[in-house]
Amino acid sequence: MAKLTFHGQSTFVVECDDGTRLVIDPFFDDNPLSAIRRSEVGAVDYLLPTHGHYDHFADALPLLRETEATLISTFEIAAFAESEGIAKVHPMHIGGGYGFPFGRVKMTPAIHGGQVHGDTTGQYSTAPGGFLMHLDGRRIYHAGDTALTLDMGLLKGKVDVAILPIGDNFTMGPEDAAEAVALIRPRVVIPVHYNTWPLIEQDPERFRDLVGERAGDGVRVEIMDPGDSYAP
Ligand code: NI
Ligand code: MN
Repeated sequence: MAKLTFHGQSTFVVECDDGTRLVIDPFFDDNPLSAIRRSEVGAVDYLLPTHGHYDHFADALPLLRETEATLISTFEIAAFAESEGIAKVHPMHIGGGYGFPFGRVKMTPAIHGGQVHGDTTGQYSTAPGGFLMHLDGRRIYHAGDTALTLDMGLLKGKVDVAILPIGDNFTMGPEDAAEAVALIRPRVVIPVHYNTWPLIEQDPERFRDLVGERAGDGVRVEIMDPGDSYAP
């Protein structure tokens, strides 16, 4: 069963049963919550940034250079990486899925900004997204940074574990994220993208209460501290 290790903000290292290691939204060295630095991440097979913002992409190019990893992201982010000399990229886009050796990945819509950190030309700005991943028999939805959308209702019945931002200010806050849970109806929800900086301070226990009010007892809220691992 895939093991998810949280490193603060939206960063996860995922270890699949076959040994494949994924990193979602790589943000280590400048991440105030991460207990590990980029040099401690170890082997990476695939790197999956949901969008190009600094707090999801800062360590992407260095990790791609320092490991054997293949980048999986939007066409524009893949093109930017190629322009920076990265050879192993798999471009895809919102609404499209692909069967990788470790499992199927589909990019999902997000309402957010599309600037790509490090792109001084501005030509690689892209639609931000999320990932719906089928890993070791589990369906894991990493929403990326997004507002609440009614479209999330299309994921109802298709998600075992939802990873949702609750920080407010830049993304959904706890109320909207609880509403997203009511639309998606996952078995488990993991709140992310909070308490990294004062602007996004939140109490995850309040989110737990809101999920109970809006979505009932059928959804478990898994609050992860940076460094925690969880196998759904
Ligand atoms: Ni962002
Ligand atoms: Mn962010």
